[in-house]
Amino acid sequence: MALLRTENVDFIYSKGTPFEKKALSHVTFSLEKNEFVGIVGTTGSGKSTFIKLLNGLLAPKKGAVYFNEQNIWSKGYDLRALRFAVGISFQYPEHQIFSDTVKEDIAYGLKNQGVPENLWQDKIMEVLKIVGLDETYLELSPFQLSGGEIRRVALASIMVMRPQVLILDEPTAGLDPVGRDTIYTALKQYQKETESTILVVSHNMDDVAEYADSLLVMSAGQILAQGTPAEVFSKTEELTAAGLAVPEITQLLHHLKLSGLPIQDSLFRIEDAAQELANFLNEVKKDE
Ligand SMILES: Nc1ncnc2c1ncn2[C@@H]1O[C@H](COP(=O)(O)OP(=O)(O)O)[C@@H](O)[C@H]1O
Ligand SMILES: [Mg+2]
Repeated sequence: MALLRTENVDFIYSKGTPFEKKALSHVTFSLEKNEFVGIVGTTGSGKSTFIKLLNGLLAPKKGAVYFNEQNIWSKGYDLRALRFAVGISFQYPEHQIFSDTVKEDIAYGLKNQGVPENLWQDKIMEVLKIVGLDETYLELSPFQLSGGEIRRVALASIMVMRPQVLILDEPTAGLDPVGRDTIYTALKQYQKETESTILVVSHNMDDVAEYADSLLVMSAGQILAQGTPAEVFSKTEELTAAGLAVPEITQLLHHLKLSGLPIQDSLFRIEDAAQELANFLNEVKKDE
């Protein structure tokens, strides 16, 4: 049974006005418990719109959204509870900071959830550890932090509420490779400790492929490809045509295959590609 799924959803902005814009068409997607899924696609492909449908911030114009197999737009459905169960951290959290200290920022969601104040400290310390910050950060102003640290605080602020599904919109945009790894390592750690389900939006395929169990590739409001990273990257031509940069290592393997080498071209980790090439070269040596 899917934890969260959409069936054939469409979404249109400003319907019936000169600004009408169809942002999603026929999107059918399902997320299983404890899965780590990446949503990728170029800017404007509909990723942010899609995740807003998943916790009921936007309602589909057609189709349906189900959480635990219940239609979230059925009469009397508790959307407030859904928004705690499916937590979204939006793009550029640094634009949404309004607390004086890191501690207040992280505690904000706990307060909203009505968690008793005597439980806050333990919960806060737990998530702070997951994102790799120590307690000296708690009394700092978010404005004293680096870009990467602010992202980690934003991540802690949503993790502390323990949503069943954690959705992050471009959590690593603008970070350097070290900052990016820190975020993904924290997410993996969190997933392991809490058995939660994670959905990460990214316009960088290299980035998510490393960590995701499966990928949803969007293009112009539609699903272009869906499957494990290996399945998705076997469609190099379609992805490239849609303006998506396939990992460089996958491109190299693909070109080698096109030039006639009998190798697998859907690999995306450097180590796997190296192994594939080594196996091929060893075969060649044996035949000599
Ligand atoms: N509030 C809005 N009003 C009108 N059009 C919008 C709005 N938000 C997004 N769009 C349009 O909908 C499409 C999908 O946008 P979005 O979901 O933000 O894509 P992504 O997150 O993949 O960049 C784009 O063409 C975008 O310009
Ligand atoms: Mg977006």
